[in-house]
Amino acid sequence: MKTIYKLLALLVSVTLTSCGGVPEEKSETAGAEKVFSVEEVLEMVSKENDVTRTLYTKAIVGKGKAQGMKFDEDWRKDDVEAGPLPALFLRGVATSIRKSPVPLGLYLGSDFPVNAANKFEGKQADLFEEIKVDQEPKFFYDEDQKLHTAMFADLASAGACVSCHNDHPQTTKSDWKLGDVMGATTWQYPKDSLTYKETVAVLSSYAKGTVDIYMEYLDEIEDFKESDKPEIGDKWPAEGNYLPTAEVFLDSVKKLSSYETMKHLVVAAK
Ligand code: HEC
Repeated sequence: MKTIYKLLALLVSVTLTSCGGVPEEKSETAGAEKVFSVEEVLEMVSKENDVTRTLYTKAIVGKGKAQGMKFDEDWRKDDVEAGPLPALFLRGVATSIRKSPVPLGLYLGSDFPVNAANKFEGKQADLFEEIKVDQEPKFFYDEDQKLHTAMFADLASAGACVSCHNDHPQTTKSDWKLGDVMGATTWQYPKDSLTYKETVAVLSSYAKGTVDIYMEYLDEIEDFKESDKPEIGDKWPAEGNYLPTAEVFLDSVKKLSSYETMKHLVVAAK
């Protein structure tokens, strides 16, 4: 993967600089250099999102349900003792990013949405038609919003995606199958290229978003009155009535994601 090599090369040069191997001046210009195209960065953050989303859907929602844990659209309501559905987990991440100083936009849409507000329109609707055929990412510049936009297929990667959408009372399509392109994540950023620092800020704001929404879920559990509260620690629902802490959850995301693995490697080498 080309991006990974570039990032690695950059991190190595930063490491060398901090060891005194490269003159000061050069290190300053290196930090301000536009290293990544917006497409590359949005692709990186979308990979992180794939890992996070699949982990949450399978290991928390899928396995949690088998333990009797509940997940609901109205999970935030006081009288509903449940966790966020995968789509609402993603929206939680998007909300956290929006509150951060990082100008990154994230949206999950479809042509046959459960929630009408998630229906693609205009250019995004046209490109989604192509994504359904080739499952390839699409990039374009949104002239109206003045934002670089990337769209990535959102696949029915778990049985839970299909059954829940097919059976949902508000569904607009009830024959989803495993592996179908159920929607797409749309990512937006104002600049066409990013420095190393800006790139790290994008990835960090996504990771922070994950922790924020996950912590909100754990806070909800704290207030459960009727339901059996899962024990929160280093165990997962696959083992019983347990949930990982936000730290343990994020740690798994990092382990599963190639970019993060590499970043850790370089940080460790520093
Ligand atoms: C337990 C039920 C449930 C599960 C499991 C679930 N979803 Fe959803 N999904 C929903 C609901 C409800 C919404 C609408 C949320 C909202 O109000 O925006 C939604 C929204 C979406 C959307 C945005 C378009 C729309 O339908 O509104 C996509 C795309 C989507 N889900 C794909 C998936 C995929 C892929 C998976 C598995 C990785 C998945 N969903 C798992 C219930 C579920």
